[in-house]
Amino acid sequence: MARLFYLSSALLSLAAAQKCPIQFDGRVPAAATPESFDANSSPYNPGYVLGQNLKWSSVLQFPSVNSSLFDASGTKAVEVTIDDKSIFAPSADNVQKGFRRAELLPTSVTGTDPSTTGQKTMHFSVMKDASRPLNSSHEYQLFFLESNDYSTNQVTLKYGTILGGAKPSDADTLTVTGNVNSSPVQNIFSIKFTPGVWHNFGLALNFNSRTTQVYYSTGNNPLASVSKAVSNNLSGQGQYHFGLLKKPIGGGSDITRNGYQPSNINEGVIFGGIFEEDSSQNACTSLKP
Ligand SMILES: *[C@@H]1O[C@H](CO)[C@@H](O)[C@H](O)[C@H]1NC(C)=O
Ligand SMILES: *[C@@H]1O[C@H](CO)[C@@H](O)[C@H](O)[C@H]1NC(C)=O
Ligand SMILES: *[C@@H]1O[C@H](CO)[C@@H](O)[C@H](O)[C@H]1NC(C)=O
Repeated sequence: MARLFYLSSALLSLAAAQKCPIQFDGRVPAAATPESFDANSSPYNPGYVLGQNLKWSSVLQFPSVNSSLFDASGTKAVEVTIDDKSIFAPSADNVQKGFRRAELLPTSVTGTDPSTTGQKTMHFSVMKDASRPLNSSHEYQLFFLESNDYSTNQVTLKYGTILGGAKPSDADTLTVTGNVNSSPVQNIFSIKFTPGVWHNFGLALNFNSRTTQVYYSTGNNPLASVSKAVSNNLSGQGQYHFGLLKKPIGGGSDITRNGYQPSNINEGVIFGGIFEEDSSQNACTSLKP
């Protein structure tokens, strides 16, 4: 019975999906190797955002997990990891010792391209790696849109002990927030980050009316709306980040460079099915392509 249900919903999704053009496709071909991500042919920027002198081939893993709902036949999950070397240095005088970072940036996203205009729906799935646990005493950003002038993140997926703003009572929680420069920062949706299962997100981003609506499911279940289309300042375009940005404990007014980070870490998060749809013609958020 369950098998039939999934089969028929998959077929329906395939039929309906053709109405929604793909804005960018970050799904990882099954044949990809870690070295594929060091090359210019990678679907992600080969040089950013990762520790100084590191290559993606030393940062990414291909864990053996079921495919995400959003992965196509022929695409697979990818894990982003961080360790003590994950210190991003955008310039010689800006060494971000307060953070540990490794974030995949889709290559077609320039900061001013159509992925941040009109009505778009971002799809991705995340799963824990039991062998590389995150430390919920810290705040992490697993996904965010960073404005083209780097002044804000208009939408984020956070995990752990969120700095400032409202904190979920259980730090082992995924939280979709609105613009981090808004006061207060809106927590649009929160859910326990249960292990061993995909958490699937569809983020409907309306850059015209500046709203954000969250769709969510676990495992192979189809997405369902879990929030209203809330008012959220999405202006400023920018780039989408998928991976781990781990913030420090303490650090005062410049947490990019200051604050405490424990050493000898080995942490990771698994991503599946990253792609963005142009959803201007219809909602298409309950569907996969
Ligand atoms: C993996 O997929 C199989 C077959 O669809 C399913 O029975 C199993 O529950 C899935 N495992 C997880 C951890 O989701
Ligand atoms: C988690 O982070 C806290 C704060 O940095 C640190 O004291 C603790 O040792 C870390 N726990 C583990 C298991 O690494
Ligand atoms: C929205 O964000 C932009 C850029 O970050 C800022 O200039 C503007 O003042 C914000 N608008 C509101 C209503 O807060």
